Amino acid sequence: MASSSSSSSSPAVGPEIPWVEKYRPTKVVDIVGNEDAVARLQVIARDGNMPNLILAGPPGTGKTTSILALAHELLGPNYREAVLELNASDDRGIDVVRNKIKMFAQKKVTLPPGRHKIIILDEADSMTSGAQQALRRTMEIYSNSTRFGLACNTSAKIIEPIQSRCALVRFSRLSDQEILGRLMVVVAAEKVPYVPEGLEAIIFTADGDMRQALNNLQATNSGFGFVNQENVFKVCDQPHPLHVKNMETGFAHMRICDESVRIFSCVVCWRSLHWSVKQPKQLS
Ligand SMILES: Nc1ncnc2c1ncn2[C@@H]1O[C@H](COP(=O)(O)OP(=O)(O)OP(=O)(O)O)[C@@H](O)[C@H]1O
Ligand SMILES: [Mg+2]
Repeated sequence: MASSSSSSSSPAVGPEIPWVEKYRPTKVVDIVGNEDAVARLQVIARDGNMPNLILAGPPGTGKTTSILALAHELLGPNYREAVLELNASDDRGIDVVRNKIKMFAQKKVTLPPGRHKIIILDEADSMTSGAQQALRRTMEIYSNSTRFGLACNTSAKIIEPIQSRCALVRFSRLSDQEILGRLMVVVAAEKVPYVPEGLEAIIFTADGDMRQALNNLQATNSGFGFVNQENVFKVCDQPHPLHVKNMETGFAHMRICDESVRIFSCVVCWRSLHWSVKQPKQLS
């Protein structure tokens, strides 16, 4: 299990820093899971010659974290002037490509031999196709001095000409074991009181998404001060899986023939379950 260099950060003063930020790995080697993808990025970090990249995969698996860490490793003290970060909150229509991105690509920055300026386009699949078309030319013209790192959930939403100019690095959902390893690092660093079933519940609700796991851990800790199953499912606003299982077993024995009655009964049951998790005192 990799551990982040930030895992040893001193406790926050004032409002608590989101743990997803506090424990965001700053080095490629510290990124958990997706070994093949991480190994490819480590080779790039070592060799220095970053190709245009598309990092694609499900949410909360480390794509943004990876491209930021790689850019830091490649550019070190030059990061501020040699990296342009654009995320979904920035306007990234065609004008931004024509102006901001092009101007940055033209800017002269002195870098060690073999290094390039980097433009990070986070959530690149939400760029308009006009903007992507404009990007394609910029990518080609300035390829001697500037490389692009695109992060997205679906690479199919990136136009073919850009895909063919980039190396594709695929990320997949993290395994339960990988999430558990990271949760253990954080509960130890934050001295979170927990029982193993509580962490299991977090892993269950996160479904391979590390961001979700850390957010649910922090929310349960700050809401209840103790991480057990009951508290996690209350925080996540999900029916307790045990109740669902009992409900399913109940229906299996009920011999309801009329499909509509059956569906209606299910909905009523789900509603009451949903209500019960919102009313902590009702759930014993
Ligand atoms: N593989 C990982 N190893 C360690 N921490 C991770 C990993 N993936 C995600 N995290 C944690 O979750 C947070 C969010 O991750 P990140 O922003 O990299 O996700 P993403 O893959 O870019 O998701 P999205 O598709 O929603 O943009 C990070 O700040 C970090 O704390
Ligand atoms: Mg991201």
